[in-house]
Order: sequence, then structure tokens, then C-alpha cells
Amino acid sequence: MQNSTPDFKWIITPHKQKDLSGSKAMFPVEVSRTARRFHRQIPGYQMSPLASLPNLAAMFNVGGIWVKDEASRLELNSFKVLGGSFALYRFIQNRLGISDEKMNYNYLISKEVKEQLGEITFASATDGNHGRGIAWAAQKLGHPCVIYVHSETSKRRIDAIRGYGAVVKVIEGNYDDAVRQIVVDAAKYGWEIISDTSWEGYTQVPTWIMQGYSTMMAEIQEQFSAQGIARPTHVFVQAGVGALAASVIGYYHSLCGENAPKCIVVEPEDAACLYESAKTEHKDIVQVDGDLDTIMAGLACGSPSELAWNILKETVDAFVSVPDYTAAKGMRVYATPLKGDPFIISGESGAVTLGALLSILKSNGAEELRDFLKIDENSQVLLINTEGNTDPALFRQIIWEGSNPVPKEYWYDEDKR
Ligand SMILES: Cc1ncc(COP(=O)(O)O)c(C=O)c1O
Repeated sequence: MQNSTPDFKWIITPHKQKDLSGSKAMFPVEVSRTARRFHRQIPGYQMSPLASLPNLAAMFNVGGIWVKDEASRLELNSFKVLGGSFALYRFIQNRLGISDEKMNYNYLISKEVKEQLGEITFASATDGNHGRGIAWAAQKLGHPCVIYVHSETSKRRIDAIRGYGAVVKVIEGNYDDAVRQIVVDAAKYGWEIISDTSWEGYTQVPTWIMQGYSTMMAEIQEQFSAQGIARPTHVFVQAGVGALAASVIGYYHSLCGENAPKCIVVEPEDAACLYESAKTEHKDIVQVDGDLDTIMAGLACGSPSELAWNILKETVDAFVSVPDYTAAKGMRVYATPLKGDPFIISGESGAVTLGALLSILKSNGAEELRDFLKIDENSQVLLINTEGNTDPALFRQIIWEGSNPVPKEYWYDEDKR
């Protein structure tokens, strides 16, 4: 018997009229063009695939399920590098006062630029993928890099960051503690913080990072156009501090205005700071404390990025918080597709939106959300696989050993569809 209470929570956030000013200011069309022009110059750059899962879509009576697959982005297995690399580009451009025309990748890594800049140590806190992206970009540019991680970060993730030459320090506490500590230490040692989250007085770099992610959306739109699809009808984005979600959702609202897709943000239930903020009467930022314990390492953040929240609170249609096994299920569905669908390698944070979509489509007791979202045979749903196999041991535990199983009362009963 399927349980009649859904195993996830949601809050619908209808807007009488969406305020698009923040989205338009942060994501004008030229910005994604500049970001993409820069990313294209990086050796090894390729457009990441937009995969279609037609058979899964048909099974759930959905017009199309599309997956932007970031698993192979620039050898880093995650979209994150798009933001960090673009922030370093902008940082150096600003510091040296160089025009966009003159700025290019080869110039950026040239001796001339290095001499003018002197030695800069770039620093950031991370829950894994952002730190890896910054370490990679700093190494390419020939600058030292210091990355702070929290005590629950897996050895594999730390080794991966060290592999790009960064000094990694483990900080007691959670991701937010690592952020606080890097702020103190950067001031002490004169490091330049390249953080993907923002706070009062620190918004420029996170803005560049969010703008850097827009390369991905520009690619998606090109890929949809080639399929004869103007834009998706629904977009699901997973969130930690919300920078990625604000970038995806802000981009679409800047591009399509009121015709933007319906946007759904998905978080782990023990680190659902955006969901909690959306629940407040005036949509005030809420910080979630504790050890933020979740298998979705990339989403284990307790404090929303202020910058991101300002966009999300005006544009998101629903916030959803899910248990860990929803992500594990998403990973298994991606890895063992229906006949004719491609298989996709997706890590815990990458797969959670697929797990959430399937839960929303089939759960008893979620009729309110389904009625509001109206996902049907005319819908084209976009998911983003934000990471591939970034933690191989955990990946095997979930896919091979079946850890984090869905409780039986939440199994999908095909006969009762
Ligand atoms: C794989 C992955 N997906 C999604 C996110 C969420 O990004 P944000 O923290 O900007 O919400 C992260 C963040 O590190 C991540 O690593």
C-alpha cells in the first residue's frame, strides 16, 4: 500500500505579478554571451549534452524530460567550474582595467598578465565542487589557491581539490562555519575570496559566479532550438545556497519575462534554507543550523546567498524539500534507464531533481502541487544533472550496494497509476 502522506514537503509561492527587475539586471543577454565567449576559449571546452528521456517521460505521461548533463564539464564532473573560472576572469579584468575585446583566455594565462598582477592567493570555502573548480582555474592561471572544507567533507573530495595544487584546510563544523573562517583568515593573510555565496558587503564576486553559470543556459536554449522547442515549460533546479537556482531561474525570467517556465527549487530536508525562507510571511532569509547532514554534499548549506534569494523570492513557483533517498533513487533511475533512453551518470546532488520530479508525479497526497504545476503530456521538463560521479565510493554504495533505499510504503505502484 502506498502511504497517503507524501514523503516530501513543498510550498507553493504564487506571484500576482513577478518582479523581474532583479533577474533582468543580473542576467542581461550580453552577459551570457560574454561568459560563453570566454568559456569557449578554454582548452577542452565543449557544450555539455542535453539528453532526452522519452520513454521515462511517456511512462509518466509527460511530453518530454530533458537533462542538461554536466557530468563531463571540462573534466571536472560538475557545472561549478563555469562560475569560478568566469569570476577569476572578471576579477583579473577589473584589477588590470582590460576591455572585453582584449580579454581572452591566452592573454589571461600570459606572462604579461602574471607580471602585472603579481602573486595573488585565491581562497574559498566549499562543500566540494566549487573548490575543485576554483583550484582548477587558479592552477591554470598560475596562482596559489587555498580552500577550506568542513569536517564532513569526504577524503575523495578533498583529494580531488588537492589534485589541482590547492592547499586544503579542514574546518570544524559545517559549510557555513568554513565560510566564516575563510573570511577571517583571508583578511589576516591578504587572500582574495572567490566565494559562490554572498553576504552583506560581498556581492561582486558571487554576481560574476552566477553570471558564469549562464553559459550553461545559453547552451540549453541553443539545444532546445535545434529540437524545435522554444523553451522548457518547467525547470527543476537543486539548491545549496541558491546561486545556481537564481542563475537558471533569473536567466529564464530575464529572457522570457512572464512567459518563463514554471520554476521549482529542490533541497535536502535537513538543509532546506530556501524552503524555510519561503515559508516566512515576508520571505525573510532563514538560516538552518545543525550539521546539515545529507548525502547531497553540494546542497548541504544552511544559509541562503542573499543575492540569490533576492531573485528566487520573486520568481520561484514552488520550493520542495526531500529526504536523501529521493536523490539516491534519482541516481539509480539515471543509471538504469528504460529501454531506448540514454543512461546518465549522476551524483547525489545531481540526481535529486529527477527523484523529486518522480515523487511529485506519483505521490498520493501531492494533488495540490500537481494541480498547481500542471505537468502533463504537453510539458517539456528541464532537469540539470549538476554533477557526475564526484564521490566514487558513495556512488558505488548507492548504485551497487543499494544504500539509501526508498521505504516500501513509498514504492511506486505501477498498477495503480
Ligand atoms: C553538484 C552541485 N549541484 C548543485 C549545487 C548547488 O549550487 P548552489 O550552492 O549555488 O545552490 C552545488 C553546490 O555546490 C553542487 O555542487
